[in-house]
Amino acid sequence: MAVLGPGGVGGLLAALLARAGTSVVVLAGESTAQAIAERGLRLESRLFGNFGVMVETAPRLQSQVDAILITVKATQLERALERIPPEVAGRALVIPFLNGIDHVNFLRTRYPENVVAATIRVEVARVEPGLIRQTSPFASASIATSAGVQDRVEQLAAQLRSSGLEVSLREDETAMLWDKLALLGPLALLTTHERGNVGVIRARRRDDAIALISEVAAVAKAEGASPDPEATVRLFDAAPESFETSMQRDQATGRPLELDAIGGAVLRHAARAGIPVPVTARLVEDLRERESKRA
Ligand SMILES: NC(=O)c1ccc[n+]([C@@H]2O[C@H](COP(=O)([O-])OP(=O)(O)OC[C@H]3O[C@@H](n4cnc5c(N)ncnc54)[C@H](OP(=O)(O)O)[C@@H]3O)[C@@H](O)[C@H]2O)c1
Repeated sequence: MAVLGPGGVGGLLAALLARAGTSVVVLAGESTAQAIAERGLRLESRLFGNFGVMVETAPRLQSQVDAILITVKATQLERALERIPPEVAGRALVIPFLNGIDHVNFLRTRYPENVVAATIRVEVARVEPGLIRQTSPFASASIATSAGVQDRVEQLAAQLRSSGLEVSLREDETAMLWDKLALLGPLALLTTHERGNVGVIRARRRDDAIALISEVAAVAKAEGASPDPEATVRLFDAAPESFETSMQRDQATGRPLELDAIGGAVLRHAARAGIPVPVTARLVEDLRERESKRA
């Protein structure tokens, strides 16, 4: 198994899989690879415990593997894929865990046969190269399957389950991706805009949250998903107060935001379907302006 980008999500998955006995090669930049080669991957996790594990590292995929987990940010994706030449990837499943929608088809332009969409619900951060901290009381993944790849997807799901992750298989890729964006999109935009965690936005921006949830649901429906915005509002109301999104953390640490992959995707798909999304548009515009001033 290869993991491209051993940050929060990639480091967590690589550490769990390696601990469970899967052979893992981590594809990373030079300094991160060196830190991991020297000290291993170290996980601090309220769900999985604290442990360290040694994994192989490489600057690019050099030999055939069964599956390649893609766990870089959307803003890093195109450059990072230079580490996975299509001719070496061959028949390997390519499974992106990025938030957003459009990366899946983008990946299919490079690896036409074997891209399998996935989503992950977890709160995890790379504290320093090789040191991963997982803080949420939940960690679960969904993977889309279809006839041509069913056996291999089931095998991958079994490997991930035996590493401790909850995994469900879904047959409707579009609905799975929009289900994730239904809550994550509004949370990411609002926590970043307000510079506060979920507790803060619940107290100060609940009306905006409800409007965003309903706008994203309208777009999801137009795309063929079956959103349930009332259920999403209930999840919003039940989310842990201290929950922070990675977009909000990226803003706080001055890193590029996945604004286009998350907010931009909603706007693009809304425009295509002719659905008005004024609250999403206002927030995305504000955040783009903030980003451009920072650049
Ligand atoms: N974090 C979460 O809780 C969470 C939850 C659900 C979904 N997601 C989604 O998962 C995706 C990954 O997020 P994340 O939080 O795990 O990001 P992250 O912690 O920033 O990790 C990204 C990793 O990619 C590496 N990377 C960047 N450019 C690279 C390149 N050219 N070649 C190889 N590696 C490269 C980074 O390397 P360096 O370490 O060298 O910088 C880093 O290790 C995002 O789409 C995010 O929205 C995140």
